[in-house]
Amino acid sequence: MSAILPPSERLWWKHPLDRLEAVWIAIAFIWCMVMFFMMVFWHVYGRQNLSTETYRTDPAKFSAQAQAAVDKWTVRTETEQKIPVVAPPEGADVYLVARLWSWWPILELEKGKTYKLHLTSMDYNHGFSLQPTNINIQVVPGYEHVIKVTPNASGQFSIVCNEFCGIGHHEMVGRLYVK
Ligand code: CUA
Repeated sequence: MSAILPPSERLWWKHPLDRLEAVWIAIAFIWCMVMFFMMVFWHVYGRQNLSTETYRTDPAKFSAQAQAAVDKWTVRTETEQKIPVVAPPEGADVYLVARLWSWWPILELEKGKTYKLHLTSMDYNHGFSLQPTNINIQVVPGYEHVIKVTPNASGQFSIVCNEFCGIGHHEMVGRLYVK
């Protein structure tokens, strides 16, 4: 028997199931079930899969909300592009815009305080990946992802895009400060 040659009997699915094959199918099925329930388990105990709320939005509406937050809470600007650094009060709605190829604005949060982070994309799919903590969220155009955020460590964090989004993908890096 060879995988290169055609099978001697063409109706292979009419053959009785070999015992070894049945064992492998059973192992594969049990493993699928283990992984399926691990998703639920890890959601609760792993603290890795975030419970995000998702709503429909559009670029114009979201831009306006993000701009309003920037106008209200900008404390300074950074980098050559003069990106605003937004320091919102506790409990505030904070907006982060993903687009080809940037994260806007820079956020400055305080440790132990809770915020509502709103995320959307203006164009294509992007991936929010907070480094080095490895928190990942898909950022989908047309949808607004809302996540309750309570920073538990202070410092400077990077937001990298982990969804390939074209020629500038590798330059799509943002910044987040926690005081
Ligand atoms: Cu945005 Cu890759």
